[in-house]
Amino acid sequence: MEAQPRKRSWAEPFKIKMVELVKMTSLEEREAAIIEAGFNTFLLKSKDVYIDLLTDSGTSAMSDRQWAGMMMGDESYAGSENFYHLEKTIQDYYGYKHVVPTHQGRAAEHIISQILIKSGDVIPGNMYFTTTKLHQELAGGQFADIIIDEAHDPESEHPFKGDVDLNRLQALIEKHGADKIPYVCIATAVNMAGGQPISLGNLRELRELTQKHGIMIIHDMTRVAENAYFIKQREKGYQDKSTAEIVKEICSLTDGATMSAKKDALVNIGGFLAVNDEEIFDKARNMVVVYEGLHTYGGMAGRDMEALAIGIKESILDDHQRARIGQVQYLGDKLIAMGVPVVRPIGSHGVFLDAKKFLPHLSQDEFPAQTLAAELYLDSGVRAMERGVVSAGRNSETGQHNYPKLELVRLTIPRRVYTQAHMDVVAESVEEVYLKREKIRGLRMVYEPEYLRFFQARFERIVG
Ligand code: F0G
Repeated sequence: MEAQPRKRSWAEPFKIKMVELVKMTSLEEREAAIIEAGFNTFLLKSKDVYIDLLTDSGTSAMSDRQWAGMMMGDESYAGSENFYHLEKTIQDYYGYKHVVPTHQGRAAEHIISQILIKSGDVIPGNMYFTTTKLHQELAGGQFADIIIDEAHDPESEHPFKGDVDLNRLQALIEKHGADKIPYVCIATAVNMAGGQPISLGNLRELRELTQKHGIMIIHDMTRVAENAYFIKQREKGYQDKSTAEIVKEICSLTDGATMSAKKDALVNIGGFLAVNDEEIFDKARNMVVVYEGLHTYGGMAGRDMEALAIGIKESILDDHQRARIGQVQYLGDKLIAMGVPVVRPIGSHGVFLDAKKFLPHLSQDEFPAQTLAAELYLDSGVRAMERGVVSAGRNSETGQHNYPKLELVRLTIPRRVYTQAHMDVVAESVEEVYLKREKIRGLRMVYEPEYLRFFQARFERIVG
């Protein structure tokens, strides 16, 4: 008999130097807190949360080197040394020529949308993201989804559910004309699809098609290194390339990027717009002083830019990504083994519960994902996020809810923050809620803000 290779465990490539104490709460305390928050996990106070999986945005633990960098902040109004370090890091590691710092991702989206989009334009993208789409609309454009169908199917095991359906893009070009399409917006590790990667093969074909029509590609590079690690694991010919090399290759196939550095790049605040075109850069550099701050800080303190420059260099390390993606996979595998319906394959930044399958007795008008996130909080103090009908908002013409195919609850894992034991507690809590799922009733919305309603909407339990 042939000997099986022995399974060898691995652990995080860091040790813990400082800890933050968190509070355990009672069921009564959580019941009071979720009612006060209008059953919206965004409105909970973090002191009432035990394990916070609301988002991976701005919640990462910085390294000792990043903290040391914070002490090297050059807080000059103009020409901060930290800006030049950041600019060079972005040029070296991502390959874009020009950098405009912003306070976070949506500010970069605002600037690029206002510069490139004219009223009546169409912006194709591999699935929408909430703030990205809104900025496209506020600039007079309309988003068009060109992601492959598999991305909308939680059970499809397609390894690259972030890929673009090129026929769909071709049809849009024929329908509207290339001059109505200022750019294609390509996200890496597509958030709303469950953190699903785009392949380099697909991106290369997309590049060919768009170049033929003179259409640019703007890259939402918020989670580019995580996407790159999936390519290393799954795409033929990339096993021996480093995450860093793959990141650079992805960026080289695009014309510019918006970055929320609060995710991949391991900082608590920050972002930037990066472009290769001189003229667009000029306009962006001019706009940033109106909305953000001078073009050498753009809404970030010098110390934040230093921490970001160091965070970028740590984010593209293979060992970091192995532990990062590995931890998300660990939680996902546990939930799958428990029979809980989750989006497959497990994505980059969290495990996404399929609320339609979890609570099949609730219609989308009863907000299954919103309900499930509230129930999970009640069970254990674990805070998750709705990514379903509430996040999808309303159709701007008809005023009706947008009913997305994916009705998800996102258990988002902050980077370098929680241990495997935390993941075990989360999995057991989800299982507990799953076992009593048939008794769970839905919610109705009692307050709805005009923009990005998921952040502030309020709900009540449906009774009777
Ligand atoms: N693009 C993607 C793919 C994002 O995930 C986010 C933020 C943004 C842009 C906007 O960046 O928050 O820095 O202004 N996503 C957070 C999340 C909010 O929880 O998924 P920002």
